[in-house]
Amino acid sequence: MKTKIEEYLKEVENFKADKLESLEDFRIKFLSKKGLIPALFADFRNVDPSERKEMGQLINTLKNSVQEKIVSLKEKLDSGSDSKSGTLDLSLPVNASMGSRHPLSIVRNEIIDIFSRIGFTVSEGPEIEDDFHNFTALNFPEDHPARDMQDTFFIEKDPDIALRTHTSSVQVRVMESTQPPIRTISPGRVFRNEAISARAHCIFHQVEGLYVDTDVSFADLKQTLFYFAKELFGEETKTRFRPSYFPFTEPSAEMDVSCNICGGKGCNVCKYTGWVEILGCGMVDPNVLESCKIDSEKYTGFAFGMGVERITMLKYQINDLRLFFENDLKFLEQFKSTY
Ligand code: DAH
Repeated sequence: MKTKIEEYLKEVENFKADKLESLEDFRIKFLSKKGLIPALFADFRNVDPSERKEMGQLINTLKNSVQEKIVSLKEKLDSGSDSKSGTLDLSLPVNASMGSRHPLSIVRNEIIDIFSRIGFTVSEGPEIEDDFHNFTALNFPEDHPARDMQDTFFIEKDPDIALRTHTSSVQVRVMESTQPPIRTISPGRVFRNEAISARAHCIFHQVEGLYVDTDVSFADLKQTLFYFAKELFGEETKTRFRPSYFPFTEPSAEMDVSCNICGGKGCNVCKYTGWVEILGCGMVDPNVLESCKIDSEKYTGFAFGMGVERITMLKYQINDLRLFFENDLKFLEQFKSTY
């Protein structure tokens, strides 16, 4: 029996396993019910009493060494399961593609950057708005047809709570809480109850601008927006202003830029006019200043508002607005930017 145990001990000492299956076979061979160690314990009953102490110790040593071997081999196999050699190769290239910014974020950040260079700060407001901030303070009289210009998603009636239809609501919040001089832009999401198509969506993004101080004139408005258009679309860009109507500005205008695709010669993007409309603007109506407790005798201001989707479509020649919301990687991966 002694020589048998010594042979087993040698076998255990020399045993190596390169996979978990062979380690399991090893365990079964020695420790299972019908394994070698239970067999030794069974034989132990026939051992001469004078040898019992020594044999008992030997069998226990064998049992312990089998158990230790299993634990240490298992640890080795588990930690090396990712690489056969059990070591990490830190020089391997990382197999993960870099993400990229969404085109709407790129353009929004660029717009913020352009205006912050001339002293505009960024302010934000809630996406769920009350009637006062979205309409009333902006000089939309109750039951006035101008409210129908923007199809609204109402959340509650009496008092009316709605998803904001434009970021002009933020200019009200800024004017309520700050006295002039005010120079701020408000980027954000807006919501309108419109059918989704290549040109319209029920969720889109705007950037609102507001400048209120003493002696602010329409010339300041024109020059600020002229600078903006050249920074965004290039030095050669021309602008023109057409009279328009918004309840919160008087006079109001829409600004066109020369088509950046055909350079003004005429193409299907500018509908062969050479011009594309990019924003609405005007001098802040004195009623709006007064609603926000700003003295309209002392201060004047200009405001403007633009759609980020529209500008992004022009800048990157994208012809379907729905692409912005589909999260298709093939589309999104095309946009690389430092913004
Ligand atoms: N709020 C207008 C809209 O959503 C855009 C706009 C036009 C904002 C003229 C202005 C402005 O501040 O002066 O259609």
